[in-house]
Amino acid sequence: MGFFNQLFGRKSKEEQKMNEKLNIGIILGSTRQGRVSPQVGSWVKEIADKRGDANYEIIDIADFKLPFLGEADSPGIAAWNEKLNSLDGFIFIVQEYNHSITGALKNALDLAREPWNNKAAGIVSYGSTGGARAAEHLRGIMGELMIADVRVHPTLSLFTDFENGTVFKPQDLHLDNVNAMIDQVISWSGALKTIR
Ligand SMILES: Cc1cc2nc3c(=O)[nH]c(=O)nc-3n(C[C@H](O)[C@H](O)[C@H](O)COP(=O)(O)O)c2cc1C
Repeated sequence: MGFFNQLFGRKSKEEQKMNEKLNIGIILGSTRQGRVSPQVGSWVKEIADKRGDANYEIIDIADFKLPFLGEADSPGIAAWNEKLNSLDGFIFIVQEYNHSITGALKNALDLAREPWNNKAAGIVSYGSTGGARAAEHLRGIMGELMIADVRVHPTLSLFTDFENGTVFKPQDLHLDNVNAMIDQVISWSGALKTIR
């Protein structure tokens, strides 16, 4: 069959799958009422959508009503795993809580295993020091989950990229960095798709 496909220039199912656009989830790390993460996520999605190189989707952990791991069974856990299975890569919107990521994001990370494996991820973080400490914690967790985290990491300041810490007004200088991060996520997500 492979021989005839080659002869007639037909693409195998495998090749067709590889040529499909990648699905990249922009995961909002906070679930707090009054959170600013949806503003940051929408800004990243707007930049990403302009590229037209992948399907970008905002994933809100709050929508899944996840219980704490081991506390209860819930349809949200299956839906969460199913959603992650449909994605080829991730962009985490990370906010710094006590020098780390939110409990909600850690719990959501713990509630899946294989659906994270052999995929790539980038981080956009914010906080008083750009959310850098939270992002570095997340990198350690991603190592265990076999998520390949890319180097370029846009860091947003609560002081200079937000008004009163609540209204998101990003400085223009971040635009190149966000695109460079997405370049790497796309490249690695495509490469890792070949080994899944
Ligand atoms: C419990 C808690 C702890 C926080 N700890 C830090 C911190 O360690 N470093 C920091 O830069 N900002 C810290 N902040 C400020 C948050 O980064 C800021 O409120 C941010 O807007 C939170 O993201 P969100 O609005 O999307 O939830 C903390 C906020 C909360 C609620």
